[in-house]
Amino acid sequence: MDFYKFRTVTDSRGNLMVVEGLQDVPFSIARVYYLWGMSPDGKRGGHAHRKLREVAICLRGACDFAIDDGIQKSVYRLDSPDCGLYLGEMVWRDMLNFTSDCLIAVFADSQYDENDYIRDYEEFQELLRKAP
Ligand code: TYD
Repeated sequence: MDFYKFRTVTDSRGNLMVVEGLQDVPFSIARVYYLWGMSPDGKRGGHAHRKLREVAICLRGACDFAIDDGIQKSVYRLDSPDCGLYLGEMVWRDMLNFTSDCLIAVFADSQYDENDYIRDYEEFQELLRKAP
């Protein structure tokens, strides 16, 4: 699983962090969305994507990303605004253990398409088995 460390420009006025498509993430950025207001014992995600590639950044607070690519299951704690987690195609993700101030930004390579989602874990496993 890939992590990206983003460029931060720091001076006496504070910090400026840059996320540039094809430069800091491996795709052109077509969409950005944000997640916040999660309950500490809540859960988000519960899906994979057929084609979509994304990079998730925890801009404030912290949360866990539980990732499953069909071979390996891993849990990553995101707690730093200059660190991005790459989520490629066909990766099941669950987000949990949110701090109450958690703010997540997600940079995506495509516009929203519900047909790209796989929301059934059995179907996800079946598609992986059939993959060439
Ligand atoms: P979903 O991707 O399932 O959220 P998460 O993975 O964070 O739990 O999306 C939740 C709802 O928001 C779903 O009804 C689709 C909608 N949505 C959009 O309309 N546009 C978007 O870009 C995204 C990411 C979600």
